[in-house]
Amino acid sequence: MHRVHNFSAGPSQLPLPVLKEVQEELLDIQGMGASIMEISHRGKIFGPIYDQVRERLREALGLDDSWRVGFVTGGATMQFGLIPMNFLSQDGRAAYFHTGTWSKKAIADAKLFGKVDLPFDSSESDFDHVPPPGATFTLDSSTRYAHFTSNNTIVGTQFASEPDTGGVPLVCDASSDFLSRPIDVDRYGMIYAGAQKNVGPAGVTIVCIRDSFLASNKVSDRAIPALMNYEQHLDQMPNTPPVFPIYMVNLVLGWLLEQGGVTAMQEKSGAKAALLYDEIDKDDYYRGTAQKESRSVMNVPFRLTDEAAEAHFIEKAEAAGLHGLKGHRFVGGMRASIYNACPMESVQALVDFMDEYRRTHG
Ligand SMILES: Cc1ncc(COP(=O)(O)O)c(C=O)c1O
Repeated sequence: MHRVHNFSAGPSQLPLPVLKEVQEELLDIQGMGASIMEISHRGKIFGPIYDQVRERLREALGLDDSWRVGFVTGGATMQFGLIPMNFLSQDGRAAYFHTGTWSKKAIADAKLFGKVDLPFDSSESDFDHVPPPGATFTLDSSTRYAHFTSNNTIVGTQFASEPDTGGVPLVCDASSDFLSRPIDVDRYGMIYAGAQKNVGPAGVTIVCIRDSFLASNKVSDRAIPALMNYEQHLDQMPNTPPVFPIYMVNLVLGWLLEQGGVTAMQEKSGAKAALLYDEIDKDDYYRGTAQKESRSVMNVPFRLTDEAAEAHFIEKAEAAGLHGLKGHRFVGGMRASIYNACPMESVQALVDFMDEYRRTHG
């Protein structure tokens, strides 16, 4: 079997034991004589999977009974529109932390529905930083929610902790650092994440919404089509859900909990990121693009001082079995995405390659 060291930003690598489990069950799940993709979502196999995945999600995130959980389609991008459609009335206000390409899209969609304030905006410095830990923000008293992107996949910045919004509930796009560390769920009204980076394949987006947030923020001044109404999706299936991605998310969550949950993921991510950033910072041959205090432990963009050599670096890396290192076009250079499923050995292999490249081409 040939497996590369995979640094793809998303869809990204999945835990090998999970892929093997899927392979084993692909033709015949639980003696059904059919795959999970070929049987009813309301039947006796998928029903328990749907219950288990929500239970595992609650356990991994530390959600109590005041939270409800759902699986929707359309990616995290669809939520950019659905969130204000559901929770921001025409004369309501929401605050959006503007920290990158994804927040830009979220802000554009929110503006279609209500008033939007930007308490933080790092667009003028190419989004190279996020608010420092402990930063406090005084928001308009009518602000319904404060939206932030906990990890900015493209520019490689990450909130070290939740921004202090003076009690205004947080709505978080956690797509690229979902379940990578413990979070203070009490400060959130909603957490959502596309599965394809940390918890599964593309095709499903996880939404967790607190009951009180739902009750207090539900808009009454517009009609919402049934399938776009979050309430329809929480702890119930209004239509055929993406069964295969949900089934896989369940297996990844089983793996994650077995590994020790988000605390173990945080330790592992910290060690992987430290190894890689140390290599980048060793001298001037490589350089990180995000400000140091804002650096992400999930996505690590970096450049060569000699930018003209970057295409060669990427080509050689690919030939050495290091896949997916080409940076996003917005930043250029290289980006290593080192999500939960990325083993330390892959980061070590990358660091060894970087060291070797410096010695032979420096
Ligand atoms: C932080 C963040 N938000 C949103 C998205 C968009 O996700 P999707 O492609 O699932 O709509 C991405 C995708 O890379 C992302 O990294």
